[in-house]
Amino acid sequence: MLSFLKNKKTPLTTLLPVNFVDIHSHILPAVDDGSKSFEESLELLKRMHSFGIKKLVLTPHVMEGVWENSITDLKQRFQELNNYLEKVNFTKIKLHLAAEYMLDANFNNLLKTKKLLTLKDSYLLVEMSYLSAPINLYEILFSIQVAGYKPVLAHPERYSFFHNNYKEYFKLKDVGCLFQLNLLSLSNYYGKDVSSIAKKLLKDNLINFVGSDTHNNRHLNYLEGINSPKIIKSIQPILENNTVFF
Ligand SMILES: [Fe+2]
Repeated sequence: MLSFLKNKKTPLTTLLPVNFVDIHSHILPAVDDGSKSFEESLELLKRMHSFGIKKLVLTPHVMEGVWENSITDLKQRFQELNNYLEKVNFTKIKLHLAAEYMLDANFNNLLKTKKLLTLKDSYLLVEMSYLSAPINLYEILFSIQVAGYKPVLAHPERYSFFHNNYKEYFKLKDVGCLFQLNLLSLSNYYGKDVSSIAKKLLKDNLINFVGSDTHNNRHLNYLEGINSPKIIKSIQPILENNTVFF
């Protein structure tokens, strides 16, 4: 009996801190490759609420030529989502609108001309192409900081071009780039290479925050499946960092 209790696996989704904020999600409907409808968003939100999540940051993609979401359009959809949730009487999760900005050719224009949507205060969620980093990556990171933002790089573990160039992660941290790990990278969802880099980044204390990067129910299935005591022990201190966004 005792050994059974000792080996009992507790899902990560039951261990989130009280004021945990999921800072990366694609739940704003029909604006990117995430939720496709208000109904789907409601279903995902209900499930996330059952994990104890009371605040969620919506981070739709902003990507030239693919998801050219203007701030005005995103704000309008956000308002529509809030209206819908009020109508169906689901107001248990506090939502905040931000974005996940692709560091592409148009990003500099956005940075110069617009007030960008942040996770909170000056924290700005950015991502890169999975094929290669921008050639002027360090210049861009510098411009972001000159413009008054703190760059938070989404899922650093998913950029395979850094896997064999691991020292680049330290360089990025040295220039003030913060790292947001995807919780799903701790499962097998993105494959073995990503999960081993995710664990290494955690071990090397390079991760600042986590996010679920939820696009659909399948992602939540994988999230619910994370229950390795070793992994949970390594991620728990970082979960606490996410409470600063509450
Ligand atoms: Fe994302």
